[in-house]
Amino acid sequence: MTIIFRSNRVFACILHRCKYSTAPKSVSTVQINQKEFVADDYTNVTPKIISYLGRNLHLQKDNPLSIVRQRIVNYFYKSFTLRGNPAFSVYDNLSPIVTTKQNFDDLLIPLDHPSRAKSDCYYVNKDVLFRAHMTAHQSELLRSGLDNFLMIGDVYRRDEIDSTHFPVFHQVDAVRTQRKEELFADHPDLEIFEPAFDPENPHKFTNTITDPSKQSCHTLEATKLMEAQLKNHLIGLVHALFGKDVKHRWVEAYFPFTHPSWELEIFYENNWMEVLGCGIVRNEILVSAGPNNSIAYAFGLGLERLAMALYKIPDIRLMWSTDSGFLTQFQEKDIDAKITYKPVSSYPQCKNDISFWLPPTLSIDTFMSNDFYDLVRDIGGDIVEQVKLKDKFVHPKTKKHSLCYSIMYRHLERTLTQAEVNEVHKAIEKAAVEAFNVVIR
Ligand code: PHE
Repeated sequence: MTIIFRSNRVFACILHRCKYSTAPKSVSTVQINQKEFVADDYTNVTPKIISYLGRNLHLQKDNPLSIVRQRIVNYFYKSFTLRGNPAFSVYDNLSPIVTTKQNFDDLLIPLDHPSRAKSDCYYVNKDVLFRAHMTAHQSELLRSGLDNFLMIGDVYRRDEIDSTHFPVFHQVDAVRTQRKEELFADHPDLEIFEPAFDPENPHKFTNTITDPSKQSCHTLEATKLMEAQLKNHLIGLVHALFGKDVKHRWVEAYFPFTHPSWELEIFYENNWMEVLGCGIVRNEILVSAGPNNSIAYAFGLGLERLAMALYKIPDIRLMWSTDSGFLTQFQEKDIDAKITYKPVSSYPQCKNDISFWLPPTLSIDTFMSNDFYDLVRDIGGDIVEQVKLKDKFVHPKTKKHSLCYSIMYRHLERTLTQAEVNEVHKAIEKAAVEAFNVVIR
C-alpha cells in the first residue's frame, strides 16, 4: 500500500490509522517533494506538517521574520569583512529534510538524549527527519571548507499549542572559526591547543569537558578570547536589533555540541526572555569535519521570538498570515525602522472541551499529549489557538482513566461561528476515537 501524504484531512486520518493501528502493517511510504521514503515505526510526520515545506517565511518579502533575518545578516556583513568582502557566507535555502546523522550524530548528541525522542521530533522514518535545529547543517558546511557562515531556515519540533508555540519556526545558526594566526595575531606566543593535543594526530588525545571553563584540548587563553569575541558579537547584534538600552544577562548552559555553553537572555516586558544558545564548538566536531587546527564558536537563535518582541506581535500564528492587513504593516523601505504591530482587530474566541476515556492499554501518564496536539492541528488547522490539558481523572470504581482538554478556537482574520467550530470539534473527536481508541465522554 502506498500512502501519499497530502495536505488534506482525509489523508490525515489514513496517516493516523497507519501510525497507531495495531493491525498488521503493510509497507507504506511517505512522499515528500516528489521523493518517496519508506515509512516505519518512527514515522510521525503529518500531512499538515508536510504542507509547511517550501513556505520559506524567512525569505518572503514583508514577512517580519524576513525583516529580522535581513537585519541579522546585515549586522554580520557589516561587522566582519575580509579585504572588503563579507567574511560570513549565508545559507538560507538548505533542505529541511535531514538525516539523524546530520541532526544528532555529527553533533555528538547521545543516542539516549531526550531531543531524539519521537515525541519531540517529526520523523519521516528512523533515519530521516524534519530538522529540529539549523545546527544540523554545521558539520556538512564545515566539511565543505567553510570557516564563517550563517545557516537560516525553518525547523520543526513537536510541542504544545499556544500563542508562542508553533510546530514550525525559524532559526539563524552561525559558526565562526579562527586559526592561531587570526586569533592570536597580536600574541604569536600564545597557542589554541594544550601541548598534549597534536592537531596532526587528533585521535591520540581524548578530549574531555569535565572542566567547566574549557575543553581539555584547548588552552584557557584561546577559550577566553573566543568567549569574549562570541559574547561581544552577540551583544552587538542585540544592540543593533533592540537598541543600546536593552538589559541582558548570560546564563551557563549545556549543549552536547559546544563547551563551554551559554544562553543569552534579554529583559523584555518585565520578564527575562531567552533569545539564543551558544558556545565553543566541541573540538571532535571540527576534527571530523575538517579544520583541525582551528577553534570555533557557534550560536543559534530563534527568529519568531525576536520578531514577536521587536514588533509586539501577540500570536505566533500571525507569522503565517497572508492577509494584506498584516503584511502591509511590515512593508517598510527601511528595514531598521521601528514598527509596532497594530492588531487588525481581535475576533472572538470559541472554547470547546473534549473529554475521553482512555483504552485499558493507556494511562493518564503514558498518553502522549504531543500525539493529541498533532491530531488537533491536523484536523483543526490554524484556527486552533490553544490546547490545554484541563483535567486528569481516574474513576475510583472502574479504574478507568480519563483526560479532558480545552481547545480554544480563533480565526485571525474573521469571526468564527459556534456551528462551524462545533463541526471541526466533532471531527477532532471522531479522529481521536479512531487514532487512540478512546471513548468520548
Ligand atoms: N541548536 C541549539 C538549539 O536549537 C542552539 C545552539 C546552536 C546552541 C549552536 C549552541 C550552538 O537550541
